[in-house]
Amino acid sequence: MDKLIEAMKVYFATNFQYYVKSHGYHVNVTGADFYQYHKLFQKVYEDSQTNIDSIAEEIRTLQAIVPFSLNRIINLSQIDDAEDKPTGLEMVKILLDDTEIVCETIRVARELCETEKCFGLLNYLEGRLDDHYRFQWMLRSTIE
Ligand SMILES: [Fe+2]
Repeated sequence: MDKLIEAMKVYFATNFQYYVKSHGYHVNVTGADFYQYHKLFQKVYEDSQTNIDSIAEEIRTLQAIVPFSLNRIINLSQIDDAEDKPTGLEMVKILLDDTEIVCETIRVARELCETEKCFGLLNYLEGRLDDHYRFQWMLRSTIE
């Protein structure tokens, strides 16, 4: 069970940082296509923001402590911190790559759910993957 708990903490932290970055892009994007990117990034950040609480409650259900120190979250997160302000199109590309990294953390936890026979959590994670795949489609279609 320890491996699953650790994998869920990594997913929690990665989703948290993904939220911070996509919300930052939502408010800071500029340029002629501002409104299009602003709305797209809103959809993306709202999904990860809403799920911060759900992921945290899944971790508590496993009787573990949810990371609540920013240092700990940054250390656990698998995606790079946003350091500069890229163009709108570059933001889309970065978020597309980051979405795949979030998905990878979910897949690691999903595999461990099968080993531990945590089928309720497995179900939740399957739903999260489907949501991310939908955003990948939207982000990819914006680039193509
Ligand atoms: Fe907003």
